[in-house]
Order: sequence, then structure tokens, then C-alpha cells
Amino acid sequence: MHLFERLKLRDVTFRNRIAVSPMCQYSGEDGMATDWHLVHLGSRAVGGAALVITEATAVEARGRISPQDLGIWDDRHVEPLARITRFIRGQGAVPGIQLAHAGRKASTRRPWEGLAPVGPEEGGWRPVVGPSPIPFDDGYPVPEALDEAAIAEIVRAFRDGARRALEAGFQVVEIHAAHGYLLHEFLSPLSNHRTDRYGGSFENRTRLVREVVAAIREVWPERLPLFVRISATDWAPGGWDPDQSVELARGLGALGVDLVDCSSGGLVPGVSIPTDPGYQVPFAERVRREAGIATGAVGLITTPAQADAIIREGKADLVLLGRQLLRDPYWPLRAAHELGHADRAPWPPQYLRARPAGAVWQ
Ligand SMILES: Cc1cc2nc3c(=O)[nH]c(=O)nc-3n(C[C@H](O)[C@H](O)[C@H](O)COP(=O)(O)O)c2cc1C
Repeated sequence: MHLFERLKLRDVTFRNRIAVSPMCQYSGEDGMATDWHLVHLGSRAVGGAALVITEATAVEARGRISPQDLGIWDDRHVEPLARITRFIRGQGAVPGIQLAHAGRKASTRRPWEGLAPVGPEEGGWRPVVGPSPIPFDDGYPVPEALDEAAIAEIVRAFRDGARRALEAGFQVVEIHAAHGYLLHEFLSPLSNHRTDRYGGSFENRTRLVREVVAAIREVWPERLPLFVRISATDWAPGGWDPDQSVELARGLGALGVDLVDCSSGGLVPGVSIPTDPGYQVPFAERVRREAGIATGAVGLITTPAQADAIIREGKADLVLLGRQLLRDPYWPLRAAHELGHADRAPWPPQYLRARPAGAVWQ
């Protein structure tokens, strides 16, 4: 097994093990994808990634992280996304979409405008919602605790988002249950202080994620894979942790989830997170081994040899790259060259004259 071996999940074949990790571009207009998204995501498909996942795409307007996030809460969001999936598929890559709800971390400014919470007077919105009325940090709004009827509406919004994603031509849905956004807020005892059937025990805290998975599976065809991104740990005492991640992953497989994408953190501010290369890979390895489900490894994976070793050593089934693919959209083509798999590098015919003839990438 190596980085350029194909991967088959359900009826979808990925040409290698490299995925574009979801990355907010803060460039949508009222939730609509723009030319930026076409060129940004399209370039990474041209660059040879097997799977190109959109940024966190909000299933309801108040679930956006910033006012400029992508959305899929309305039928009119479908066509601009369909334009993108047609292009990605035309390049031999698989288009994926990350379905998300920002919960108590919604309504913030885009990073280059300061990341801080933004109120309705400046294009943001209130209330933001969450499991319990506990704000993310100083200066963040106190979320309105969702009642059971409102939770059921959010489950429906995820299901409707998946239905629209199918219409738009996506072949993978990834549910965003990481980074301190709504689903993660329900999972973690640090943000979920509920006393009803959505809080307290492990069973109760994981109920919403399981309901979202089941609702999406009602409309997401059997032939197409479903991923869940988790934060395998909050890096905080008393929080969500790797043991609970393994337990959750065990249950998700049975509900029709095909791959668990193992990230970490984001729930509480001010925690110390290691920043050495591949620091989250051990989570993917452990979940894969102990829960018996395919996993994705992500986080500070930057070199072809490092990515290849993760696959060869059976630590994950897929590697997701974020920032390295922003620096170099053609990283997969270069990785194939460097790893001696030039025969598997998916060069687009338009670029064939640039393909290195010898050993050197130039
Ligand atoms: C600009 C930017 C935007 C991001 N947006 C998202 C997002 O929408 N959803 C998500 O799950 N992670 C998001 N992330 C996290 C990445 O997907 C990835 O997990 C993280 O950057 C670590 O991988 P890397 O070291 O390869 O960049 C974002 C990261 C960056 C740099």
C-alpha cells in the first residue's frame, strides 16, 4: 500500500490517497459559491488530488462561521456548486462537501478583518446557538440553548443539505463534527451541560451526531461514501478525548459512515496543542485500529515521504493536506514524481509539456 494506490469506498474510486482538507475561503456571497471557489478548488483538482473537499458549508444561515461562508440551506446554492463539481469531476478527481454548523462560534469576522465576533449591525447575526448557554471565549456571544424541536430542525437542515449536495454532483459528504463547532459542542462535556437526552452521558452527548448521520444516510445514496470529521481530543482536562473518539467511531461505522477524519482541538481557547509534523496522525492510527473503520490523517503533513509513510504504515487510509496545498496546488503531481510513481501522476494533457522528463523537478 502506498500514497498513489487507488482507494475504493462504496462505489467511488479515488485515484490516490491525497485529499484537499476543507478550508474556509471567506469568499462566498450570501452563501453562494463564486468564481474564487471554482478556481481555488478547480486548481487543486488539476494539481492531482484525488478528493477535493469544499470548505465548511453551512446547513443554515446562522450556522456560518463568517458572513462570507459557503452555504447550502437554499436550492439556489446548488447551481454555483454544480459548476464546481462538474469541473472537478472533469479532472478525474472526486468532489466532496463538508456540511457544517458553527454553533456558538458562528458570526465572526473573516480572519483578515480580525476574526472577532461580529454583530448584526455589521453583517453578523444573533442569536448564535449551542447545546448550553456557555460562550466560547470572552467577547463571544452567549449561545441560545437549542430545545428539542430546534435540534430536530438542525438535523433536518443537515439532511436537506445532503440532498442538495447530491443534486450539485458531490460524491462525498463530510459531516463537520470537529473544531468546536455545533456538533462538537454537543460531544464535549466542556460545552454541553444539558440534562435532557442530548447531554450528560456519552450516549446522550453523541446522540446529535448519530441523528445527523442517520438523517443524511436517508437521502445520501448507498453508493456514495460518508465521512465524519472529529476533533479526537479537546486537549483539555474533562473534555472530549481519544477514548471517546474510538467509542464514537465504532458506532458510526454501523450507521453508514465510511471514514473518520481525525483532527483535534478548537473547542476551548488557550489550550496548548503540539505543533510537530503529523501530530494528529496517532489519532487516525488509533481510531483505525481500535474502531475498525477507515480514517483520514490531517495536520502538518507536508512532505511526500511523510504522507507516503502514513499510508504504507497503515496509520490511515487517506491523507488530507490543508496549508501545503495552498502553497502548492500541484503538490500531488510533485509527490508522485518524488516518490517514483510518475506513471501514476494525473497530469492534465494541457500541462504535459511541463512534466519533468528526468529525475529533477524543473
Ligand atoms: C485557511 C484555513 C481554513 C480552514 N477551514 C476549515 C474548514 O472549513 N473546515 C475544517 O474542518 N477545517 C478547516 N481548516 C483546517 C484544515 O482543514 C486542516 O485540518 C488544518 O489546516 C491542518 O492541516 P494542515 O497542517 O495540512 O494545514 C482550515 C484551515 C485553514 C488553514
